[in-house]
Amino acid sequence: MNLSVPRFSQHQFLNLDVLTYAANPLSVAGVAGSSNYRFARVDIADKSALTACVEEFKPELVVHFAAESHVDRSIVGPGAFVRTNIEGTFNLLDACRPLIGKQELLFHHVSTDEVYGSLGETGLFTETTAYDPSSPYSASKAASDHLVRAYHRTYGLPVKLTNCSNNYGPLQFPEKLIPLMILNAIEGKPLPVYGQGTNIRDWLFVEDHCEAIWAVIERGRLGETYNIGGNNELRNLDVVQRICQIVAEETGTQLQSKLDLIQFVKDRPGHDLRYAIDATKIRNECGWEPRETFESGFRKTVKWYLANAEWIASIKTGAYREWLEANYDGRTDNN
Ligand code: TYD
Repeated sequence: MNLSVPRFSQHQFLNLDVLTYAANPLSVAGVAGSSNYRFARVDIADKSALTACVEEFKPELVVHFAAESHVDRSIVGPGAFVRTNIEGTFNLLDACRPLIGKQELLFHHVSTDEVYGSLGETGLFTETTAYDPSSPYSASKAASDHLVRAYHRTYGLPVKLTNCSNNYGPLQFPEKLIPLMILNAIEGKPLPVYGQGTNIRDWLFVEDHCEAIWAVIERGRLGETYNIGGNNELRNLDVVQRICQIVAEETGTQLQSKLDLIQFVKDRPGHDLRYAIDATKIRNECGWEPRETFESGFRKTVKWYLANAEWIASIKTGAYREWLEANYDGRTDNN
C-alpha cells in the first residue's frame, strides 16, 4: 500500500492499535514512513486514552477494524472479546458522539458474517438474516453491530456496516486456518482438521475485502449494512488438501508427504457448519465484486508466506508457541 498515490495522498491517516499478540509492526512497514501516516499505541478499551486521541485528531472517517477475532481463543478466554469488541466499540462510538453535526463524519464498522450463526447445506446469508451467533466471538461482534446501529438511530451518528466472510491472504496471523496450514505444511508439521473437515467457509481475499470496504465508504448508503463474500465456498478438508498441493508444487516436494500430515482432531464446540454470503446488495449498490478466485488467491498467499521468512520469524514468539500448545495439545487425533 502506498499512501502517496492520489487516492490516499489527500487524507491524513491515524492508525490506532494496542499491538496485541496478533500485531506485527513489520506489517505496516510499507506505510510507516509516509508523511500522511501516524501511529498511536492505544487500547480501544481504554476510554480516556481513546477519547483524547479522537478529540485531538477529529477524524472525518473512522474505519473500525479493531477486534479480537479468533473463535478458538474466544472459547478459551471470552473476557478479552467482551472487553475489546463490545466495550471497545462502545468507547469508539461514544468518543465520536461529540463530533456529530459539527464536522464531516462517517463511522464505518467492520464486522463478520458469523453474527448470523450457521447455515445448513443450502441457503445464503443476506443483510436481513436474523442474528444468531454461536461463539463468544460472534456474540461479541453481534453486540457491537447492535451498538453501532443504536448510535445511528438514537444520536444520528452517520454509520455504515459491512459483514464479511472468512478473510485470507498475506500478513494474516497463523492461528487462522489458512496461514496455520500453509506454515505447518511448509515445515512438515501436523495439519489439524477439526471434526471430519466437512464444515464450509466462504473465502475472501483480504485485498478484495479492503476494496469492498472502500466501495461502501464511497458509494454505500448511510445506516445500511452490506454483506461481503468471496464466491469461494469450500469444505475445510478441500482447503487443506489444496494448500498441500500448492505447497508441494511451490517447494518441489512430494504431494503425498504433505497430505500425510493431515490429522482429524477433536471438533470445536458449537462449530458452525456453513457460512455463505449473498453479495447482491454490494454488487448492485456499490459496483463491487471480488477479483480473486480461490485458485489465484490461495497461490498468491502460499507464495507470500514462502517469500517472507523475516515476517514469519518475527511472529513466532513464545506467546505463539504457548497458544499452539493450549489449543491443540488437548485435541487428540480422531483416528
Ligand atoms: P478459522 O480460520 O478459525 O475461522 P472461523 O472459525 O472464523 O471460520 O477456521 C476456519 C475453519 O477451519 C473453521 O471451520 C474451523 C476450521 N479449523 C480447523 O479445522 N483446524 C484449525 O486448526 C483451525 C484453526 C480451524
